[in-house]
Amino acid sequence: MKIETLCLHADQNLKDEWGSITEPVYLSATFVHSSTSISTYSYSRLSNPTRKHLENTVAAIEYGSEAFAFSSGMAALSTVMKLFSVGSHIIASNDLYGGSLRLFRNVNAQLEGLSFDFVDTFNTDNIEKLINANTKAIYLETPSNPLLLVTDIAEVASIAKKNNLLLIVDNTFLSPYLQNPLSHGADIVIHSGTKYLSGHNDVLAGFAVVKDPSIAEKIAYYSKTIGACLSPFDSFLVERGIKTLPIRMDRICENAKKIAYWLRDQPFVTKVNYIGFSDRKDYPITLRQSRGFGGMISFELSSARLARKLLEGVRLFQYAESLGGVDSLVTYPMAQTHADLPEKERELRGINDRFLRISVGLENVEDLIEDLRQAIENEI
Ligand SMILES: Cc1ncc(COP(=O)(O)O)c(C=O)c1O
Repeated sequence: MKIETLCLHADQNLKDEWGSITEPVYLSATFVHSSTSISTYSYSRLSNPTRKHLENTVAAIEYGSEAFAFSSGMAALSTVMKLFSVGSHIIASNDLYGGSLRLFRNVNAQLEGLSFDFVDTFNTDNIEKLINANTKAIYLETPSNPLLLVTDIAEVASIAKKNNLLLIVDNTFLSPYLQNPLSHGADIVIHSGTKYLSGHNDVLAGFAVVKDPSIAEKIAYYSKTIGACLSPFDSFLVERGIKTLPIRMDRICENAKKIAYWLRDQPFVTKVNYIGFSDRKDYPITLRQSRGFGGMISFELSSARLARKLLEGVRLFQYAESLGGVDSLVTYPMAQTHADLPEKERELRGINDRFLRISVGLENVEDLIEDLRQAIENEI
C-alpha cells in the first residue's frame, strides 16, 4: 500500500461488530481477564486498543516495526533518553527545538550524567571528530528548528553504524508523508505529534518509531514504567488527523513554496530559510531524502521594529507558538520556542529580534501573502 492508503487503512484490527467506519475509542483504564491467563489488554498505561491502533498506523507510515505514542513530543524524547546510562556521550545537531536543548542540557546532562556535544551536522566530519569510547548516539533534527538546516541522514547513519551508535532523528518538520528517516538508516524517529500528524492544533502528542525489536522492547519497558503515554481520546484525535495528512501536506507544500519565493523578493526581508530553494548547498540532500519541502519558513527582517510590526499586524497568520496545523502561525523564536537559549548563543545562530518563523497552513495562499503584505504596508 502507498502512504496515502496507509494513512487510512494501515491497521484494520479495530473494526467492531457493528461495522463502524470510525474506530471505537476505548476509554477504559483497565480490562477484564476472561481467565487466569492475561488478555491482550490489561491496563491502559501498558497498552490500550485505541492507542495501539494509532501506534500501528504511525509505525506503518514511518516504515518502522513499532511505534510508541506519548502525551507530547517531549514525553517521547524524555522516554527515549532513558536508553542511555550515566556517562553516555551524545552528539547532536546544534540547531534544535529549544525544548529538546533544555532537556539535554538541564535534565539529561545536569541531573542524569549524560554529556552532549552540539555541532553543525551538515558537515559530517564534525560528527566523526567527536566520537569517543563513551559515545552512544547521534541526534539529528532535519530540517532543524528554527533555521531549517538539513543533514544527510544516510551519511550520518553510515557513521553511526560504523561506530555502533544509535541514530535518532526528529522528523517533526517534514512528517512521515515527506521523509522517512528509518528508510535512510536511522534507528529511532521522534515526532511531536502535536504538529503535522494531528494537524489541527487541538492535541498534544509525541511518537518514537523504531525498526529493531530489541530497541522496541526497551522503549516499551520505559514507556510503561514512566507512564507518559497518550490518552485514548487524544489517540483518536491524532488518528483522525493522520487520515488527511497527505492531502494537507500537499496543499501546505504548495502554499509554502509561493510564500517563500514571495518573501525572498521583498526589500524588507534580508534572509529566507526554506529547504525548497534550489540554490541551497543542501538542496541535493533534500531531493535525495525528502519527497517535498514542507510548510516551514524562517526569515529575517531588516529591523526588529519591522518584525514586531509584522507580528502585531497580521490578521490571518496567528502569532502563536507551534506549527504543523491547518491554521497558519507566526512565531517569534527569540521570545517563544528558543527563549531559554542563552542570548549570546541565540545571537550567534541568528535567532535575533529580527527573526521570525512561519508555519504555513491551508488558507488561500493569495490571502496569506496579502496578510503579510498588509501587516507591514506602510513600510514597503
Ligand atoms: C522539532 C520539534 N521537536 C519536538 C517538539 C516537542 O513537541 P511537543 O511540543 O509536542 O512536546 C517540538 C515542539 O515544538 C518541535 O518543534
